[in-house]
Amino acid sequence: MVCLGNICRSPLAEGLLQDKVERLGLDVTVDSAGTASYHAGEHPDSRMIKTTASHGIDISQQRAQQFDSGHFNEFDRIYAMDKSNFQDILCLANSDDDRNKVDFLLNASHPGENRSVPDPWYGGEQGFEDVFHLVDTACEKIANALIDA
Ligand code: 4NP
Repeated sequence: MVCLGNICRSPLAEGLLQDKVERLGLDVTVDSAGTASYHAGEHPDSRMIKTTASHGIDISQQRAQQFDSGHFNEFDRIYAMDKSNFQDILCLANSDDDRNKVDFLLNASHPGENRSVPDPWYGGEQGFEDVFHLVDTACEKIANALIDA
C-alpha cells in the first residue's frame, strides 16, 4: 500500500487489509510505504489513528518508510493511492514484471477507473472518515479475491 507520506492513507490501507486477511486466516504479508521520505520513522497521523480506532482497528504502532525498488522483489502486488503515487512507483520499476504489479487501490472497488483516494491530510475530520470507507470497500474486495488466489 503506497501513498505520499505513509502517515495517512497507506497506513489505513495496511491496517484494514491486515485485519481482513487475518480474519480470513490467509497467509499474506501486508505492508505500506510512502513515495516521499519526509515522514520516515514517524507513527501515522493522529487523526488517522483516531478514525481507524473508532472502527476497531489499531494502526498506532506502524512506522513510516519510503518506498524503494527493493519492494518490487518483496511483494506480488503494489497498490497506489493516487495518480502521482502511481507514476512515482512506476519510475522505480526495473522490468515489465515490476510494472505489472502496480495498480490503483480503488481499481479493486471501481475496476478500470484509476480513481484516486483523496488525501485527507489537509482537511477536517470528515475527510478521514470518508477515506476510511473508500479504502475499506477496496480492501474488502482484495481480501475476498485472495481467498481464491
Ligand atoms: P499521505 O498524506 O500521503 O496519505 O500519508 C500526506 C501526509 C503528509 C504530507 C502529504 C500527504 N506532507 O506533505 O507532509
